[in-house]
Amino acid sequence: MKICMIGTGYVGLVSGACFADLGNVVCCVDNDTQKIDMLKNNQIPIYEPGLEEIVNNNYIAGRLKFTTNLDWAIKNCDIIFICVGTPAFKNKHSADLHYVFDVAKKISQNINNFKIILTKSTVPVSTGEKIQKIISKKAKKKLFEVVSNPEFLREGEALRDFRFPDRIVVGSNNKKVAKKLKNLYDPLIKKGANFFSTSRRGAELIKYASNAFLATKISYINEIANLCEKTGVNVEDVAIGIGLDKRIGSRFLRAGPAYGGSCFPKDTKAITVTGDKFKINLSIIKSVIKSNEKRKALLTERIKKILSNKIKNKKIAFLGVTFKPNTDDMRQSSSLKMLPYLQKKGAKIYYYDPSGEKKEFTKLKNVRFCQDIASACNDVDLVIIHTEWEEFKALDFRKLSKGKKFKIYDMRNLYSPNLMKQKGFNYYSVGRYGN
Ligand SMILES: NC(=O)c1ccc[n+]([C@@H]2O[C@H](COP(=O)([O-])OP(=O)(O)OC[C@H]3O[C@@H](n4cnc5c(N)ncnc54)[C@H](O)[C@@H]3O)[C@@H](O)[C@H]2O)c1
Repeated sequence: MKICMIGTGYVGLVSGACFADLGNVVCCVDNDTQKIDMLKNNQIPIYEPGLEEIVNNNYIAGRLKFTTNLDWAIKNCDIIFICVGTPAFKNKHSADLHYVFDVAKKISQNINNFKIILTKSTVPVSTGEKIQKIISKKAKKKLFEVVSNPEFLREGEALRDFRFPDRIVVGSNNKKVAKKLKNLYDPLIKKGANFFSTSRRGAELIKYASNAFLATKISYINEIANLCEKTGVNVEDVAIGIGLDKRIGSRFLRAGPAYGGSCFPKDTKAITVTGDKFKINLSIIKSVIKSNEKRKALLTERIKKILSNKIKNKKIAFLGVTFKPNTDDMRQSSSLKMLPYLQKKGAKIYYYDPSGEKKEFTKLKNVRFCQDIASACNDVDLVIIHTEWEEFKALDFRKLSKGKKFKIYDMRNLYSPNLMKQKGFNYYSVGRYGN
């Protein structure tokens, strides 16, 4: 089948490359010329383990193409995935859908034969109807079908998530089209993926309800961690103890910084707007949003406390600044609040992230990117482990400290407090008594 992915970002590029790997001919389109030029020159614009190989293999095999020519791509494909961004409006909770609607307009102008149009972008309930309305202005109804096919891949594990998804959700009010899409996903279904066909609105809501639920789990364990710190309990014990209950499950119960990334923050907000629109108060999700905001301030306060409220001229190493490991995505990472705050208070910051230097910090005075862990930790007063990248999990702190007694704030609980104490380190973590 000839497939077109409109938007070649984290979702469009990964799914496009994976669909090509399944034997389809895929055209990835983006209006970012630089991105498309990079891809045509075998350079991958995002950090995603394993992606380079699969993109290059399929590009060489002729199954994967890159273009900025949207009109051409629409005309030459049968299945069109909309994978553009749906960010939150600035200072508002609702989703900015103008990228999606711009694409819908373009599709309407280029429909030349029957097309299945799937929305992989995360969009509020009833957006499918709006897309259909836009396309109907120029194209005959029988020439297209708008379907919701939300994407559940996680950055950092995106290839595995595409190839072995827990479920594939297809929201279509047209049974024939749903069957066709089942065929498209057949190789994944054969490997064990659940295929769930539902209404278009149902699929749209499933995506938001999933993300809001996962965000709730994170905020929940983060608040329990606060209680653990006061009551002499280890939050990991609580997480294991409750997670063994199959109704609860053990995943997404790791205490740490506020949740971030390109999805949870905006999706939790957008679903509350949908709730308000339909006069349903999604009060649980609203408090999750508040709790998460508070968490950013709480952990920053904690840094201040660890430094005995003396931040000026303190040298601080940040290990990891992305919102999670194995991605270069900085969107809504809690480091975006912490670093500028500490810098403003007069700290000198040295950060290292395996995914490289971040444009978000280049203009900040006294914030410097270091090429490796040792240079970032050289002669500092405090080492903060912000992101749980693999290479931070077995650090030789004695070697890194070079005799200078620095403090360690492990926001991801990668080390054992007892062992660290035995070794004589001034070690702080999250949700564990006594630190
Ligand atoms: N990133 C994730 O982990 C993830 C996971 C599941 C779902 N989603 C959802 O998928 C959607 C895309 O997310 P993303 O992270 O891939 O976004 P992204 O910002 O990485 O990529 C979007 C791409 O769309 C391009 N674009 C915008 N308008 C265009 C147009 N008119 N024509 C062609 N290209 C255009 C942009 O240049 C950009 O490259 C969002 O709705 C997001 O919520 C994201």
